Amino acid sequence: MRSMRVQGQICTGMGSPMYGDMLERVAADVEARGVFAVILSGHEDDAGRLALPLRLLGGLHRLALDGRAPRLRRWYPSAGGQWDAQAAWPDIALAATAHADLLRAALDQPPQTNEVGRSAALIGGLLKLAHEFNLPVRLFEIGCSAGLNLRADYYNYRHRGGQWGPAYSPVTIDDAWRGHLPPAADLQIVQRHGYDIAPLDATSRDGELALLSYVWPDQPARLDRLRGAIAIARRVPAPLQRRNAVEAVAGLSAATGTLTVLWHSIMWQYLSAADQAAVLAGIDALGTNARADSPFAHLMLEPQRRTPDSPVGFAVRARCWPGGDDTLFGTCSPHGPPVHWE
Ligand SMILES: C[S@@+](CC[C@H](N)C(=O)[O-])C[C@H]1O[C@@H](n2cnc3c(N)ncnc32)[C@H](O)[C@@H]1O
Repeated sequence: MRSMRVQGQICTGMGSPMYGDMLERVAADVEARGVFAVILSGHEDDAGRLALPLRLLGGLHRLALDGRAPRLRRWYPSAGGQWDAQAAWPDIALAATAHADLLRAALDQPPQTNEVGRSAALIGGLLKLAHEFNLPVRLFEIGCSAGLNLRADYYNYRHRGGQWGPAYSPVTIDDAWRGHLPPAADLQIVQRHGYDIAPLDATSRDGELALLSYVWPDQPARLDRLRGAIAIARRVPAPLQRRNAVEAVAGLSAATGTLTVLWHSIMWQYLSAADQAAVLAGIDALGTNARADSPFAHLMLEPQRRTPDSPVGFAVRARCWPGGDDTLFGTCSPHGPPVHWE
């Protein structure tokens, strides 16, 4: 149950003491052969990159949000409750017992954390690219979840020196940028398309609940951003297709008079090694075909180590063609802000 405890410490460190408490108690319950030992059986050797603890907690959060476990609402801040680890635990164990099958099914779902805060990193990178190429942008995303970050230009980013983006946006991202800020380029996104093996429809009630369930319930700023982004998704179209990243990239091509951008965030770890290699080969092929009047850029926000011995950080970087230059734009938190631009 080390993975539960490690993830719990990460959650606490990232501002969710509730999930820190819960995962500690889940680990203790498994050791005592309680209900969570039954729910998690068969997953003992799951790879850490599959984020099993977040799948479990997403399943429980969903039960609180959609009312199937109404007693949980008292303890979930996202449902109007107040977290109290000791008082909540009996209700959590009861809900887990009553909905064990549903929670086991949740373990098979990839986490659909469509984190709107990551737009702070992606849009900053896109502004740098738009400034360099000065062309309208065709934007494609793999592992897009509900495609909320495909609407990144509709969000408002605040920083010490001012702001970028529509001032009256329902999505505001505070302390978005630090360091050498992205240029205020004339950004024109003329196409936006997303691909995911399990795309969510943010405009449906079911999709909204699924998205909310993967946000940590004691993080109101993230929940607010998500709700605002869902409101924008209802009026700004971005077609999504159910497609593996490999096929999605194989189907792309550059277009004359536009900058074609493929971006992704926190999805690389979910690809098998073979799929990672195939996506990179597809990207190289797109790069080889790019011309000065039909450039291509691969922009990503993914975990990285600066050297083999340094800790994992979250890097915003881009490769651009023609040429294939690779540039580290900045670093940020796993959920986006603050982004430190180089
Ligand atoms: C942690 S979420 C990140 C979502 C979004 N990129 C963000 O940063 O908010 C990972 C996403 O990758 C998707 N995914 C996992 N494996 C995939 C694959 N082989 N091809 C395409 N998408 C995949 C999942 O369905 C999920 O939506």
